[in-house]
Amino acid sequence: MNVKDKVVMITGAARGIGKTAARLFLEKEAKVAVCDIDEAALKTTVEELGAVNAQALIAVQINVAERPSVDMAVKTIADKWGKIDVLINNAGITRDAMLHKMTEGDWDKVIAVNLKGVFNCTQAVLPYMTAQNKGTIINTSSIVGVYGNVGQTNYAASKAGIIGMTKTWAKELGRKGITVNAVAPGFTVTEMLATVPQNILDAIKDKTPLKRLGSPEDIANLYLFLASDEASFITGQVIGVDGGLTL
Ligand code: CAA
Repeated sequence: MNVKDKVVMITGAARGIGKTAARLFLEKEAKVAVCDIDEAALKTTVEELGAVNAQALIAVQINVAERPSVDMAVKTIADKWGKIDVLINNAGITRDAMLHKMTEGDWDKVIAVNLKGVFNCTQAVLPYMTAQNKGTIINTSSIVGVYGNVGQTNYAASKAGIIGMTKTWAKELGRKGITVNAVAPGFTVTEMLATVPQNILDAIKDKTPLKRLGSPEDIANLYLFLASDEASFITGQVIGVDGGLTL
């Protein structure tokens, strides 16, 4: 799968799936902008990933929910490498609670990061992609955005919204040579699972035909494929990576 010399911006890349993806793209000779709100984690991640290829890596502090921060991050990347080929809207948070207990703050925070963040980043990179008549947007949705989940009103709404934006942008931007797809991970072993009670995780594993949770590599491999030249005729799709949990 060819992503050599492509400039790839990954949000939420200081840990979890984003960090695993950053490593994978570096190994495949892409240029990677590791973007995250957490400056300390970003520093550690860049020290680690620098061992793969420090020349092809930059760390950019970003708050995807704040447009000026996004604009600054995108400008930093474009100033460094002159273009942005691939945007992976991977940043996401949870604030789980049953509907009757969910606060307005929990709702607003998740929608701001997971939904508005994807809008902000995509709109900000658009001029660079349209200028070269080519680009790839990969949005991280979730099986929760397709099927819902107990305790995740805010998260499900944000991830379903991402699917709506993905299909809209695939229609709007195809004529500009830009593909837009959504990846829908199942339950994947990252820090995000830390708040999920063990009995629920056990039940999920049991219901999954492949009898395990996802790994960050499972998701990063699909990001890589969608960003590669080989996926250039795929757009507007929502692709599940969930071990068959949703069957
Ligand atoms: N399926 C069915 N029932 C569930 C359930 C589930 N997944 N989760 C909770 N319930 C049930 C409980 O068994 C309980 O039932 P009873 O009232 O009959 O006892 C009821 O709902 C209330 O649950 P809690 O007692 O746990 O209520 P709480 O207020 O203490 O906690 C919660 C609620 C925060 C939602 C907690 O249950 C929880 O963390 N659930 C897991 C939420 C989850 O799956 N998050 C996914 C995070 S990973 C992610 O989001 C990534 C991704 O893309 C998939």
